[in-house]
Amino acid sequence: MLSDRISSFIDEHMKAFTGELARFLSIPSVSTLGEHAADVLAAAEWVLRQLKECGFSGALYPTGRHPVVLARSAEVPGAPVLLIYGHYDVQPPDPLDEWLTPPFSPDIRDGYIYARGATDDKGQLLTYINAVQAVLGVNGELPINLIVLAEGEEEIGSTNLGKFLADHREQLRADAVAISDTSQLAPGIPAITYALRGLCYLQIDIRGPRFDLHSGCFGGIVHNPAQVLADVLQKLKNPDGSIAIPGFYDDVLALEQWERQQMAAQPSDLDALKNYLGVCEFAGEPGYTVTERSTARPTLDINGLWGGFSGEGAKTIIPAKAGAKVSMRLVPNQIPEKIDQLFTRFVRQLCPAGVSVEFAGLHHAGPVLVNRNTSAMRAAERAIEIGFGKKPRFKRDGGSIPVVNLIREQLEQENILLLGWGSPDDGPHSPNERFSLDDFHRGIRSAAALFFELAR
Ligand code: BES
Ligand code: MN
Ligand code: MN
Repeated sequence: MLSDRISSFIDEHMKAFTGELARFLSIPSVSTLGEHAADVLAAAEWVLRQLKECGFSGALYPTGRHPVVLARSAEVPGAPVLLIYGHYDVQPPDPLDEWLTPPFSPDIRDGYIYARGATDDKGQLLTYINAVQAVLGVNGELPINLIVLAEGEEEIGSTNLGKFLADHREQLRADAVAISDTSQLAPGIPAITYALRGLCYLQIDIRGPRFDLHSGCFGGIVHNPAQVLADVLQKLKNPDGSIAIPGFYDDVLALEQWERQQMAAQPSDLDALKNYLGVCEFAGEPGYTVTERSTARPTLDINGLWGGFSGEGAKTIIPAKAGAKVSMRLVPNQIPEKIDQLFTRFVRQLCPAGVSVEFAGLHHAGPVLVNRNTSAMRAAERAIEIGFGKKPRFKRDGGSIPVVNLIREQLEQENILLLGWGSPDDGPHSPNERFSLDDFHRGIRSAAALFFELAR
């Protein structure tokens, strides 16, 4: 349900809500860069201030790095409790010269707001706060109890959040959790995400000779770390693109026929996707559709690699070291810790004597499959239909959100609603990230409707 008065209130306040979003987006809360720590804190304070203005009580909780915002609405006795999660940190904005307007000077053009964090996740998080403002503005009270949990370390793996959840179990007790940090199926086709991929992200450092050597004097008698790295990386995949690490697929839950049919029946425009990506051909595992490959099958990607001389001209050396960052997207029921072990064991075994190899674990996130048959899911479906004017589809997403499994493990909560207001072409983590103001509007409407549908 969404009363006409709330609906009109939202329409009339879109300009003000967009102004608030622009202010939020102008805070460069890049969690991975130490020089932005004060900005990350400022973004946390901004979120808390917004919530306090809505009558929430709450505080910032320090963690090992960036604070958690935890706040709750004025108690409505007997009403259910919804926990809302979002993240106020963002990815670094580089490459800067590819932005048409600066990443932290939000610009509105063609119905979109452009800025780092617009869709991931500030714009989506703010929809819930604006929905609260609208409901309170009209009714003076909420139909439901809300807890807002906003963190500043999502983009760096939520490494301190598990402990925070464990330490605040009582304060986080809820009937359902809503997270808007994914996207619709396509612009204007809303979706509820029921599966996410997990992540196992490692760095490999290979060292050979004590220092860079003259390749004429010493070439031919020592292992070249850059060559070893290339050989190792090459052996991680089979010629058909599947992953060659022994045991890698052991725990993969095979897609069932009904689900494959359901996925195949969803609208998808592969030519438009190629066009968006700027590629003329797709790659990937044989026997699976593009949608399956990008959401329901595990992957291995080299995210970066280095070693030796890459400056102008030529320098004849054997580098002393080389390295790479490699990440694997995991699917149910793969376990990040186990994949980590299989990976490091395999790579170690591929490295010849004469070089040393070291690993650094960067992120772990568990894959997610949520129960679609719950009353909270039905409430979310109705809310989205009210907000978007269309029934949502169900889909899997290929990205990872560490908090989801942390919530399941630490809070024993299975009612998790992944309600993406963004569009697949919003460009999260890319230059010119954006959020459609229509999606912002429909997200606020859906969030407000969700409060009432869950309370019904
Ligand atoms: N919001 C994204 C995850 C996402 C994006 C899910 C699109 C579904 C569709 C989140 O902020 C993110 O970027 N997560 C990281 C993982 C994290 C451990 C750094 C990711 O997926 O790379
Ligand atoms: Mn996100
Ligand atoms: Mn992200």
